[in-house]
Amino acid sequence: MEIPTELKNFVQACVPLAASHEHGGVKRLLTELIAEPSFASSIPPFGEVETSPRGWTLGGEFVCHKADDLTVMILDTLPGVEQPPHDHEMHAIIGVFEGCEDQRFFARSSEGVTPAAGRSMEAGDVVVLGEQSIHAISSPAGRAARAIHVYFGDIYDVERSLFHPDTLEQHPFTGELYDEFCRPAS
Ligand SMILES: [Fe+2]
Repeated sequence: MEIPTELKNFVQACVPLAASHEHGGVKRLLTELIAEPSFASSIPPFGEVETSPRGWTLGGEFVCHKADDLTVMILDTLPGVEQPPHDHEMHAIIGVFEGCEDQRFFARSSEGVTPAAGRSMEAGDVVVLGEQSIHAISSPAGRAARAIHVYFGDIYDVERSLFHPDTLEQHPFTGELYDEFCRPAS
């Protein structure tokens, strides 16, 4: 995929901000980026979506930038699947630019992990997730989500966790287990 200029400029501006842990600055830039009405149409569709080994079509991701202190990707989330709760072990900022990304959040306590409030993110909405945040994403029927996901680290090279969709028991994150923990949307 050819990365549109606005997105390229956004990534370039995020590099020094990530190096100095300026999450607020990245949030402001991401909010401005997706508020631009022409932005969504500048991102081409991914094309054919791969089916997972267990038969889920989750969406797709396109990595725009990957470094030790910053990962930026375009993430598509397709309806029909409740994806499992997971953490990132780093700050993250999500900005939805098309469709609707449903967020379920979970709280950690001495009792373990419990469901907390959720939020439906519409185009233009931005959410900041702390280092210890746990969330799960899905999209409602007919409203596939497209979003920019920014991680303040290398999301592909970090030990993080997945949580069983029913028991919320914690497990090391693997792609295989992520697939196993998906459930059909209710
Ligand atoms: Fe996530």
